[in-house]
Amino acid sequence: MIYPVVVYGHPVLRKVTKDIDNSYEGLGDLIDGMFQTMYRAEGIGLAAPQIGKSIRLFVIDASPLADDYPELKDFKKIFINARITQREGDEDVHPEGCLSLPAIQEDVKRPTKIRIEYYDENFTKKEEEYEGFAARVIQHEYDHLDGKLFIDHLNPLKKRLLKGKLTSISKGKVSVSYRIKTPV
Ligand code: NI
Repeated sequence: MIYPVVVYGHPVLRKVTKDIDNSYEGLGDLIDGMFQTMYRAEGIGLAAPQIGKSIRLFVIDASPLADDYPELKDFKKIFINARITQREGDEDVHPEGCLSLPAIQEDVKRPTKIRIEYYDENFTKKEEEYEGFAARVIQHEYDHLDGKLFIDHLNPLKKRLLKGKLTSISKGKVSVSYRIKTPV
């Protein structure tokens, strides 16, 4: 199932999400649907709040960018109840976009190395380290679980300059090739 992508201004994007357990109904279908929705929108990551579910789940398939970033080779994963336990390394600046913020791209500064604990789709506990662009994609999706968006990392002036664009997005006045859900 392809879901509409919730865009800026919808309160679900600002909620702190809840952990789930392996009795969560329809989890397999939900994960499939999230991948389909992400591929349809040509994204490399999607967090559950972006389809209106306030749960601690995100999916990533950044493998299409592996030509430019070797660390992304085969990087297709499902992260359930994730907790970033360590962030280190130099901060690195790189442009980011988000399916919930269509047509906006801004430089975001993030640590280059993280350690993360999570459960995979079989509820097997994992603990892993990521660096480079993989660490960036994870941190972006992880922010969604805490009700944060990449624009929250921008300085106040830059954020102010985006205000008009953000208002347009929240009203659905944005050209986008996938189905979106605006705040009511
Ligand atoms: Ni995003």
